[in-house]
Amino acid sequence: PPSGWAIEADVVVVGSGVAGLTAALRCAAAGRKTVIVTKARLDAGSTRWAQGGIAAALGEGDTPEQHLDDTLVAGAGLCDEAAVRTLVTEGPDAVRRLIGTGARFDTSPETGEMALTREGGHHRRRIAHAGGDATGAEISRALVAAVREAGLETVENALVLDLLKDADGRAAGVSLHVMGEGRHDGVGAVHAPAVVLATGGMGQVFSATTNPAVSTGDGVALALRAGAEVSDLEFVQFHPTVLYLGPGSEGQQPLVSEAVRGEGAHLVDADGVRFMVGRHELAELAPRDIVAKGIMRRMRERDADHMYLDARHFGAVMWEERFPTILAACRAHGIDPVTEPIPVAPAAHYASGGVRTDLAGRTTVPGLYACGEVACTGVHGANRLASNSLLEGLVFAERIAADIVGSPARTPVPVGSGPSDGGWQSVPLLPPEARYAIQRTMTAGAGVLRSAESLTRAAGELAELAEAASDPASGKPAEPGVEAWETTNLHLVARVLVAAALRRTETRGCHWREDRPDRDDESWRRHLVTALRPTTE
Ligand code: SIN
Repeated sequence: PPSGWAIEADVVVVGSGVAGLTAALRCAAAGRKTVIVTKARLDAGSTRWAQGGIAAALGEGDTPEQHLDDTLVAGAGLCDEAAVRTLVTEGPDAVRRLIGTGARFDTSPETGEMALTREGGHHRRRIAHAGGDATGAEISRALVAAVREAGLETVENALVLDLLKDADGRAAGVSLHVMGEGRHDGVGAVHAPAVVLATGGMGQVFSATTNPAVSTGDGVALALRAGAEVSDLEFVQFHPTVLYLGPGSEGQQPLVSEAVRGEGAHLVDADGVRFMVGRHELAELAPRDIVAKGIMRRMRERDADHMYLDARHFGAVMWEERFPTILAACRAHGIDPVTEPIPVAPAAHYASGGVRTDLAGRTTVPGLYACGEVACTGVHGANRLASNSLLEGLVFAERIAADIVGSPARTPVPVGSGPSDGGWQSVPLLPPEARYAIQRTMTAGAGVLRSAESLTRAAGELAELAEAASDPASGKPAEPGVEAWETTNLHLVARVLVAAALRRTETRGCHWREDRPDRDDESWRRHLVTALRPTTE
């Protein structure tokens, strides 16, 4: 059980991307004692890596209704329309408040108005960006500065272990493993009657991903162990254009933003043929799943492991001014987009599913909230529309804060006997080296292309890893430590993801079953919801 140290607060926010920091700032501004805990540094999560931007109906002639339509089309029949309506109608003001917090977006030199670009699936220019292609870095900078200025208590290098509950089963805080923080080292806890999960995604469950190293599904795993409902995990979005670094490249890969296509780049094969033309009315700017599939198909037809993004026609000045981050990343890998097409291939990018919430960000465990990539609010359905994720983090974090500060402050009650029953004590820890086996299994069996056969094989391999970890004959259980815990989290979310992907016997959005190539609205216009009994893994 947690020992060593404990902090008492009104609200504990776990994670420090756009969602977590926004929720924390709003709760603190309303006078709630708010503590932020985060696994690495405050700016180490996915937000900082977001390139293209943040979508909102801010442009002349654009309306929330049009943004809603594009989001629903991308979501392939599984969006929750009320959630999308909330997102698109509250989005523009949420972006304005973000500007009020200090984020600086690019403006058009001619008009002085906010510059807006296009991305896949958007019929209009509605993506606000900053620093050309460094939108997330600017948002992160502004929010971290605001958190520091507000003097919020933060604990960095803190891996969240489990939800603590009170005797009534309400969230009562989190247990944490902290490394190298001095004041709060080792296992400890933050006790608070409101717990906001904003831990981001799970891209590291695959071998190659755009996600940073911290995206190991910790929040979804915690929620599952705590008995919360999780939904739509089968809908993993693969970004179509990730810089291809050669066979077997692993870990975080450089993103080549959709905004590059939004500004007119072409997807071509090795012969320079634009293969998306004729496949969709929007060609290279079709929704992301369609472009990813188009690339995979062409790769197969050509027996190639990548395609190309050709934006030589932008010229050096536009590349330097509009896409400095991508230009630098390409050049660092020996590719000059000014003079040659960029090699690209799809890689895991975004978990459209996550911990199920209502419109106030409440999960099915009282007192536990979720926002940002860890959550499944219903806005993404089967496939997230580009640049809706920063917006979702903002809008739903604000709604969570409103719900928390709108309820009477709860006096912290004594926590139960320790971590909730589903806690670490009952989970055999996997050894850190199992991470690579999980990633290879998931990439081979549950990647862009899936089938009953590939998924069954993946499920079997994951089960074997669990058996080996809990079999006393195979050696000592893994030593508790951040890497073993992360690996165990990856394993849990991988198992739930594979089970859902196996059950969904159709192709929809970013879930592409080769053995079930059609969308089946009669049987599958519904969500798969998983809840583990708190005492089982
Ligand atoms: C990109 O810049 O292509 C990423 C946008 C997104 O994932 O929403």
